[in-house]
Amino acid sequence: MHTLTIPEAADKREFYEALRAQLASLLAGERDLIANAANTAALLYHALPEVNWAGFYFLRGAELVLGPFQGRPACVRIPLGRGVCGAAAQTGQTQLVPDVHLFPGHIACDAASRSELVVPLKQGDALLGVLDLDSPRAGRFEDADRAGCEELARLYVASIE
Ligand code: SME
Repeated sequence: MHTLTIPEAADKREFYEALRAQLASLLAGERDLIANAANTAALLYHALPEVNWAGFYFLRGAELVLGPFQGRPACVRIPLGRGVCGAAAQTGQTQLVPDVHLFPGHIACDAASRSELVVPLKQGDALLGVLDLDSPRAGRFEDADRAGCEELARLYVASIE
C-alpha cells in the first residue's frame, strides 16, 4: 500500500522535491503507461492545493485522446493546436495560463477552471502526450509550478521507458 503524504514545505521548490520523491516511490517497479499515469494523476490531484483536475492526454495521430485523470469528466478528443492542451502538444512547450478566460480557444471542461498548466510529455524527440492541471483560482500556477511539474512529467516518462 502507498500512503499519500501531503508534503510540508517551506516553499514550492521544496514541496515539489518532496512530491518528486513520493512519485518516484509510487512508480518504482512498474512500467505500464496507463497504471503509472493513473497513479501520477491521483497523487497530483490529492497533493496539489487548489487543483480541480489533474490528468493525461495521449497523442493518437493528429489529436490528443483523454487518458487517466482525477476530476470531473472531460472532453475526450482535442485536435492539435486547439485549446491549451492542443497548444502545448503543437508547440512542445509548457503552457502556463493564468486566466483561461483570456486564452483564445480554451476548451472549458469544468466551468470552475480558471487557470491551467499543461506540460508536454516528451520521449526523446517524440511527443507522447500532455499532463494537464486545472485550478479554480486565477493565477494559481507560477514558474515554480511549471518547473516542478515539468520534473514530475519527466519522471513519469522515464518510468514507462
Ligand atoms: N482546458 C483544456 C481542455 C482539457 S480540460 O481542462 C481537462 C484545454 O483548453 O486544452
